Amino acid sequence: MKMSRRTFLKRVLSGTAGILGIGAFGYSYARYLEPHMLQTKTYSITSEKIPGAFHNFKVLQFSDTHLGFHYDINQLNKLSETINGYEPDLLLFTGDLVDKPHTYDYPVELVQVLRKLEAKRGKYWIYGNHDHGGYGTDKIRDVMDQGGFQLLQNEHILIRNGSASFALAGLDDVMLGKPDIEKALNRIPEDLFTLLMVHEPDVADDYQRYPIDLQLSGHSHGGQVQLPFYGYMVTPPYAEKYVEGHYRLEQGLDLYVSRGIGTTRLPYRFLCQPEISLFLLKSNDS
Ligand SMILES: [Fe+2]
Repeated sequence: MKMSRRTFLKRVLSGTAGILGIGAFGYSYARYLEPHMLQTKTYSITSEKIPGAFHNFKVLQFSDTHLGFHYDINQLNKLSETINGYEPDLLLFTGDLVDKPHTYDYPVELVQVLRKLEAKRGKYWIYGNHDHGGYGTDKIRDVMDQGGFQLLQNEHILIRNGSASFALAGLDDVMLGKPDIEKALNRIPEDLFTLLMVHEPDVADDYQRYPIDLQLSGHSHGGQVQLPFYGYMVTPPYAEKYVEGHYRLEQGLDLYVSRGIGTTRLPYRFLCQPEISLFLLKSNDS
Protein backbone atom coordinates (compact mmCIF):
# COMPACT_ATOMS: atom_id res chain seq x y z
CA MET A 1 0.00 0.00 0.00
CA LYS A 2 1.31 3.42 -0.88
CA MET A 3 1.87 5.70 2.09
CA SER A 4 1.59 9.48 1.83
CA ARG A 5 4.46 11.66 3.05
CA ARG A 6 2.18 12.94 5.83
CA THR A 7 1.29 9.44 7.04
CA PHE A 8 4.91 8.39 6.80
CA LEU A 9 6.06 11.34 8.91
CA LYS A 10 3.33 10.72 11.48
CA ARG A 11 4.37 7.10 11.83
CA VAL A 12 8.06 7.92 12.06
CA LEU A 13 7.33 10.59 14.66
CA SER A 14 5.11 8.44 16.82
CA GLY A 15 7.48 5.47 16.46
CA THR A 16 10.50 7.53 17.43
CA ALA A 17 8.61 9.16 20.30
CA GLY A 18 7.78 5.67 21.59
CA ILE A 19 11.39 4.51 21.37
CA LEU A 20 12.55 7.58 23.24
CA GLY A 21 9.87 7.11 25.85
CA ILE A 22 8.41 10.52 25.15
CA GLY A 23 4.91 9.07 24.80
CA ALA A 24 1.70 11.00 25.22
CA PHE A 25 3.27 13.91 27.04
CA GLY A 26 5.83 14.39 24.28
CA TYR A 27 3.13 14.33 21.66
CA SER A 28 1.00 16.89 23.53
CA TYR A 29 4.05 19.05 24.14
CA ALA A 30 5.03 19.05 20.44
CA ARG A 31 1.45 19.53 19.29
CA TYR A 32 0.00 22.01 21.79
CA LEU A 33 2.78 23.65 23.80
CA GLU A 34 5.99 24.26 21.90
CA PRO A 35 4.31 25.76 18.80
CA HIS A 36 3.21 28.63 21.12
CA MET A 37 6.53 29.14 22.90
CA LEU A 38 7.80 32.15 21.03
CA GLN A 39 11.48 32.94 21.49
CA THR A 40 13.20 36.21 20.62
CA LYS A 41 16.74 35.72 19.38
CA THR A 42 18.92 38.80 19.63
CA TYR A 43 22.05 39.23 17.55
CA SER A 44 24.59 42.05 17.34
CA ILE A 45 25.77 42.78 13.82
CA THR A 46 29.14 44.48 13.74
CA SER A 47 30.70 45.72 10.53
CA GLU A 48 33.05 48.51 9.61
CA LYS A 49 30.56 49.27 6.80
CA ILE A 50 27.77 50.18 9.24
CA PRO A 51 27.76 53.99 9.52
CA GLY A 52 27.78 55.62 12.95
CA ALA A 53 24.29 57.00 12.28
CA PHE A 54 22.97 53.43 12.39
CA HIS A 55 24.61 52.39 15.66
CA ASN A 56 22.01 50.42 17.68
CA PHE A 57 19.54 50.51 14.75
CA LYS A 58 17.01 47.71 15.38
CA VAL A 59 16.04 45.36 12.56
CA LEU A 60 13.33 42.86 13.47
CA GLN A 61 12.69 39.83 11.25
CA PHE A 62 9.69 37.52 11.37
CA SER A 63 9.00 34.74 8.93
CA ASP A 64 6.79 31.84 7.86
CA THR A 65 3.55 32.59 9.69
CA HIS A 66 1.67 30.05 7.54
CA LEU A 67 -1.73 31.50 8.44
CA GLY A 68 -4.54 29.01 8.01
CA PHE A 69 -2.53 25.98 9.11
CA HIS A 70 -2.89 25.85 12.91
CA TYR A 71 -2.07 29.55 13.09
CA ASP A 72 -4.88 32.08 13.16
CA ILE A 73 -5.50 35.80 13.11
CA ASN A 74 -5.70 36.02 16.93
CA GLN A 75 -2.24 34.52 17.23
CA LEU A 76 -0.95 36.96 14.60
CA ASN A 77 -2.53 39.79 16.55
CA LYS A 78 -0.75 38.69 19.72
CA LEU A 79 2.50 38.42 17.77
CA SER A 80 2.03 41.98 16.47
CA GLU A 81 1.85 43.26 20.05
CA THR A 82 5.06 41.42 20.93
CA ILE A 83 6.80 42.84 17.86
CA ASN A 84 5.60 46.39 18.55
CA GLY A 85 6.91 46.04 22.10
CA TYR A 86 10.47 45.89 20.70
CA GLU A 87 9.96 49.21 18.87
CA PRO A 88 11.92 48.12 15.78
CA ASP A 89 13.37 50.66 13.38
CA LEU A 90 12.91 48.30 10.45
CA LEU A 91 10.49 45.37 10.23
CA LEU A 92 11.21 42.58 7.74
CA PHE A 93 8.97 39.67 6.78
CA THR A 94 10.81 36.91 4.91
CA GLY A 95 7.91 35.06 3.27
CA ASP A 96 5.15 32.45 3.64
CA LEU A 97 2.38 34.59 5.10
CA VAL A 98 -0.39 32.07 4.37
CA ASP A 99 -0.04 28.29 4.17
CA LYS A 100 -2.43 27.76 1.24
CA PRO A 101 -3.35 31.07 -0.46
CA HIS A 102 -6.16 29.56 -2.57
CA THR A 103 -8.15 28.11 0.35
CA TYR A 104 -7.46 30.69 3.08
CA ASP A 105 -10.47 32.78 4.08
CA TYR A 106 -8.63 36.14 4.50
CA PRO A 107 -10.46 37.58 7.53
CA VAL A 108 -11.01 41.35 7.45
CA GLU A 109 -8.81 41.69 10.53
CA LEU A 110 -5.76 40.48 8.60
CA VAL A 111 -5.02 43.82 6.97
CA GLN A 112 -5.77 45.63 10.24
CA VAL A 113 -3.26 43.50 12.14
CA LEU A 114 -0.59 44.00 9.46
CA ARG A 115 -1.26 47.75 9.51
CA LYS A 116 -0.94 47.78 13.29
CA LEU A 117 2.66 46.58 13.10
CA GLU A 118 4.95 49.54 13.62
CA ALA A 119 8.50 50.28 12.49
CA LYS A 120 9.94 53.78 12.39
CA ARG A 121 11.86 53.32 9.12
CA GLY A 122 9.48 51.06 7.26
CA LYS A 123 8.10 47.54 6.78
CA TYR A 124 9.40 45.38 3.91
CA TRP A 125 8.81 41.82 2.77
CA ILE A 126 9.75 39.20 0.20
CA TYR A 127 7.85 36.32 -1.38
CA GLY A 128 8.20 32.79 -0.03
CA ASN A 129 7.29 29.64 -1.93
CA HIS A 130 3.87 29.37 -0.24
CA ASP A 131 3.01 32.97 -1.24
CA HIS A 132 3.52 32.13 -4.92
CA GLY A 133 1.98 28.68 -4.59
CA GLY A 134 -1.74 28.18 -5.17
CA TYR A 135 -2.05 31.37 -7.25
CA GLY A 136 -1.26 33.49 -4.19
CA THR A 137 1.14 35.90 -5.93
CA ASP A 138 -1.33 38.77 -6.50
CA LYS A 139 -3.57 38.14 -3.51
CA ILE A 140 -0.76 38.04 -0.95
CA ARG A 141 0.82 41.11 -2.49
CA ASP A 142 -2.50 42.96 -2.26
CA VAL A 143 -2.89 42.04 1.42
CA MET A 144 0.69 43.04 2.27
CA ASP A 145 0.33 46.32 0.29
CA GLN A 146 -2.78 47.19 2.24
CA GLY A 147 -1.01 46.22 5.46
CA GLY A 148 1.70 48.80 4.75
CA PHE A 149 4.48 46.38 3.78
CA GLN A 150 6.56 47.18 0.71
CA LEU A 151 7.57 44.24 -1.48
CA LEU A 152 11.19 43.89 -2.55
CA GLN A 153 11.18 41.57 -5.55
CA ASN A 154 14.64 41.55 -7.14
CA GLU A 155 15.23 45.13 -6.08
CA HIS A 156 16.74 47.19 -3.31
CA ILE A 157 16.20 50.47 -1.56
CA LEU A 158 18.48 52.65 0.52
CA ILE A 159 17.63 53.11 4.18
CA ARG A 160 18.83 56.61 5.01
CA ASN A 161 19.66 58.48 8.15
CA GLY A 162 20.89 61.98 7.34
CA SER A 163 23.64 61.57 4.76
CA ALA A 164 24.36 57.97 5.84
CA SER A 165 22.66 54.94 4.31
CA PHE A 166 22.73 51.19 3.86
CA ALA A 167 21.16 48.95 1.23
CA LEU A 168 18.19 46.66 1.84
CA ALA A 169 17.68 44.18 -0.99
CA GLY A 170 15.02 41.53 -1.51
CA LEU A 171 14.96 38.56 -3.87
CA ASP A 172 11.98 36.86 -5.47
CA ASP A 173 11.32 33.35 -4.18
CA VAL A 174 13.96 30.86 -5.35
CA MET A 175 11.64 27.85 -5.80
CA LEU A 176 8.51 29.31 -7.39
CA GLY A 177 9.46 32.86 -8.38
CA LYS A 178 12.02 34.37 -10.75
CA PRO A 179 14.97 35.30 -8.58
CA ASP A 180 17.48 37.68 -10.13
CA ILE A 181 20.33 38.48 -7.76
CA GLU A 182 22.15 40.75 -10.24
CA LYS A 183 19.06 42.90 -10.63
CA ALA A 184 18.40 42.97 -6.88
CA LEU A 185 21.91 44.27 -6.18
CA ASN A 186 22.26 46.43 -9.28
CA ARG A 187 24.58 49.40 -8.72
CA ILE A 188 24.84 49.12 -4.94
CA PRO A 189 28.27 50.63 -4.19
CA GLU A 190 30.61 47.97 -2.76
CA ASP A 191 31.37 50.03 0.33
CA LEU A 192 27.68 50.23 1.33
CA PHE A 193 26.53 47.80 4.03
CA THR A 194 24.11 45.46 2.26
CA LEU A 195 21.38 43.33 3.79
CA LEU A 196 19.70 40.77 1.52
CA MET A 197 16.40 39.02 2.24
CA VAL A 198 15.99 35.61 0.55
CA HIS A 199 13.36 33.10 1.64
CA GLU A 200 15.52 30.02 1.03
CA PRO A 201 18.80 30.01 2.97
CA ASP A 202 20.95 27.52 1.04
CA VAL A 203 21.49 29.86 -1.93
CA ALA A 204 23.93 31.71 0.34
CA ASP A 205 26.62 29.29 -0.87
CA ASP A 206 26.27 30.79 -4.33
CA TYR A 207 25.46 34.39 -3.36
CA GLN A 208 28.44 34.82 -1.03
CA ARG A 209 30.48 35.85 -4.07
CA TYR A 210 28.41 39.06 -4.27
CA PRO A 211 29.09 42.04 -1.98
CA ILE A 212 26.39 41.10 0.55
CA ASP A 213 27.14 41.54 4.24
CA LEU A 214 24.08 40.00 5.80
CA GLN A 215 21.55 37.48 4.44
CA LEU A 216 18.30 36.92 6.32
CA SER A 217 16.27 33.83 5.45
CA GLY A 218 13.46 31.62 6.73
CA HIS A 219 11.85 28.64 4.98
CA SER A 220 13.49 25.93 7.11
CA HIS A 221 11.16 26.22 10.14
CA GLY A 222 14.34 25.07 11.89
CA GLY A 223 13.41 21.55 10.82
CA GLN A 224 10.20 21.90 12.94
CA VAL A 225 11.07 18.74 14.85
CA GLN A 226 14.51 17.84 16.14
CA LEU A 227 15.11 14.51 17.77
CA PRO A 228 17.94 13.80 20.17
CA PHE A 229 20.68 11.70 18.49
CA TYR A 230 18.92 12.05 15.14
CA GLY A 231 18.75 15.74 14.28
CA TYR A 232 16.27 17.57 12.07
CA MET A 233 13.23 15.58 10.97
CA VAL A 234 12.12 17.73 8.05
CA THR A 235 14.36 20.02 6.06
CA PRO A 236 12.76 21.35 2.86
CA PRO A 237 14.68 21.81 -0.40
CA TYR A 238 17.03 24.82 -0.25
CA ALA A 239 17.08 24.64 3.57
CA GLU A 240 18.93 21.37 3.96
CA LYS A 241 22.34 22.78 4.75
CA TYR A 242 21.50 25.95 6.68
CA VAL A 243 18.63 25.21 9.04
CA GLU A 244 18.68 27.68 11.93
CA GLY A 245 20.71 30.41 13.54
CA HIS A 246 23.94 32.05 12.45
CA TYR A 247 26.42 30.82 9.86
CA ARG A 248 29.58 32.65 8.81
CA LEU A 249 30.36 31.58 5.26
CA GLU A 250 33.85 31.18 3.86
CA GLN A 251 33.83 34.43 1.94
CA GLY A 252 32.63 36.46 4.92
CA LEU A 253 28.85 36.50 4.38
CA ASP A 254 26.85 36.29 7.62
CA LEU A 255 23.70 34.21 7.15
CA TYR A 256 20.92 34.08 9.72
CA VAL A 257 18.12 31.54 9.34
CA SER A 258 14.91 32.06 11.29
CA ARG A 259 12.95 29.06 12.55
CA GLY A 260 9.86 31.11 11.71
CA ILE A 261 6.52 31.37 13.48
CA GLY A 262 4.09 28.77 12.15
CA THR A 263 4.16 25.19 10.97
CA THR A 264 3.41 23.43 7.71
CA ARG A 265 2.50 19.84 6.74
CA LEU A 266 2.39 18.75 10.39
CA PRO A 267 1.36 20.98 13.32
CA TYR A 268 4.28 20.02 15.55
CA ARG A 269 7.38 21.69 16.88
CA PHE A 270 9.87 19.86 19.07
CA LEU A 271 13.15 21.36 20.33
CA CYS A 272 12.50 23.97 17.71
CA GLN A 273 10.58 26.91 19.15
CA PRO A 274 8.98 29.54 16.93
CA GLU A 275 11.07 32.69 16.85
CA ILE A 276 11.44 36.31 15.95
CA SER A 277 14.94 37.69 15.39
CA LEU A 278 16.17 41.06 16.53
CA PHE A 279 19.36 42.38 14.91
CA LEU A 280 21.15 45.29 16.55
CA LEU A 281 23.46 47.04 14.12
CA LYS A 282 26.74 48.09 15.68
CA SER A 283 29.02 50.62 14.08
CA ASN A 284 32.76 50.87 14.61
CA ASP A 285 32.45 54.65 14.14
CA SER A 286 30.18 55.25 17.11
FE1 LIG B 1 7.49 28.29 5.40
